[in-house]
Amino acid sequence: MPEYKLVISGSRELKGETHVSGGKNTSLAVIPAALLAEYPCQIENLPDIEDIRVLIRILRRLGAKVDWRAEEQQMQVDPGAVTSNTVPFALSQKMRASYYLMGALLGRYGYARVGYPGGCDLGSRPIDQHLKGFRALGAAIREENGMIVLEGRLRGANINFDMVTVGGTINVMLAAVRAEGDTILTNCAREPHIVDTANFLNRIGAHIRGAGTDTIRIRGVDKMRGASYTVIPDQIETGTLMIAAAATRGQVTLRGCIPTHMEALTAKLLEMGVLVTSEDDLIHVQLRQGHRAIRLSTQEYPGFPTDLQQPMSALLTRAVGTSEVIENIFDARFKHLDEMRKMGAKSVINGKIAYIEGVPELHGAPVYAPDLRGGAALVIAGLMANGVTEIYRPDTIARGYEHLESKLNALGGIIRREPVPNGNNNADGI
Ligand code: EPU
Repeated sequence: MPEYKLVISGSRELKGETHVSGGKNTSLAVIPAALLAEYPCQIENLPDIEDIRVLIRILRRLGAKVDWRAEEQQMQVDPGAVTSNTVPFALSQKMRASYYLMGALLGRYGYARVGYPGGCDLGSRPIDQHLKGFRALGAAIREENGMIVLEGRLRGANINFDMVTVGGTINVMLAAVRAEGDTILTNCAREPHIVDTANFLNRIGAHIRGAGTDTIRIRGVDKMRGASYTVIPDQIETGTLMIAAAATRGQVTLRGCIPTHMEALTAKLLEMGVLVTSEDDLIHVQLRQGHRAIRLSTQEYPGFPTDLQQPMSALLTRAVGTSEVIENIFDARFKHLDEMRKMGAKSVINGKIAYIEGVPELHGAPVYAPDLRGGAALVIAGLMANGVTEIYRPDTIARGYEHLESKLNALGGIIRREPVPNGNNNADGI
């Protein structure tokens, strides 16, 4: 795709109804998990995002047959034809979730050779807990020319994670489902997509209990069948659209969501003066007047998600008063605030705390999307701002949001893609 920028005409209220897509982070775990099965799996409600396309390239490289029908949000994965256990660095570094190929291939074949994962630059993102779990299950791990090689016949074990890790919990669960005997994982992450991945694995024959609590018990099985499975809606897309609705002082209904997954965000929006109501799979968001500053601290689920900290801090730049945002999960997740200063936002960052002083208005400016959720935060800032905002390097947003611009445009936003001359996707042309 030629390089492009997003051009946003701001100060528009979002109004109307839109549908939430399937979960990015749950899809990125369920698709590799399908490699554990002996027979084809049909996965439904998958978002049409760049990270899924990268994952398809990885699976095909391994030899798996993948039939992806993006317009039907549907994929068939046939692991029967897998001939390789190697994920080259050129592919693994394109996304974070490539680390799930370690757990899935090790669990199924007892051997995996996978390059280090990539993903958003949010500061240090080690995978020591994944490796610790694989080792405890009996894998020998070595590095070979920058590739991680994992090998061994796996046996159940008791593993306590040193810290709560979403990727680590899922990855070790993937390896353990086909290990011999029982595994008990403690200090596990409890995110909805961990439950969803466990539900999928159970559907194809795994024996997992306790996903969604901090202790997961797995009884290893030696065969897994194919099945069809529908992934849950995207919690972070839901939240991003809720925040965008509030930020534009609009009135939006989101369809196809799970309101109980949104409780931490909903509580904060209510505290700010935003009206949020829900029924069944609908969430309504409305903001009539100004909103108040708050104190916000990111935590593992069911706390306030780090992935919504960035969109939320965009909203806080126009709150009445000074907000305090504490980022506890990642050490470099405030880069969007540096960009937003160019739009008139006021913030001071001190280590893991950002103090955001609300201003009456933002103005459009050229800015860079620093990472996926930071890019979404800038889209929200652009919708709020007076005048025109140009977002450079917006392709990072398409890695994780399905058709974000068209969804926002259908609600009354004005966002268009424009080619960047000379392929220079830089605000200053450098
Ligand atoms: N950590 C370690 N060692 C490990 C694993 C994690 O020290 O072995 C630390 C991390 O450095 C971090 C904390 O533990 O400080 C939590 O990291 P976690 O493992 O939970 O994050 P992740 O697996 O790298 C996933 C999501 C992220 C999301 C985080 C937290 C995927 C593909 N990525 O990352 O999603 O922010 O969990 O919920 O599922 C995004 O979607 O924009 C995104 C960044």
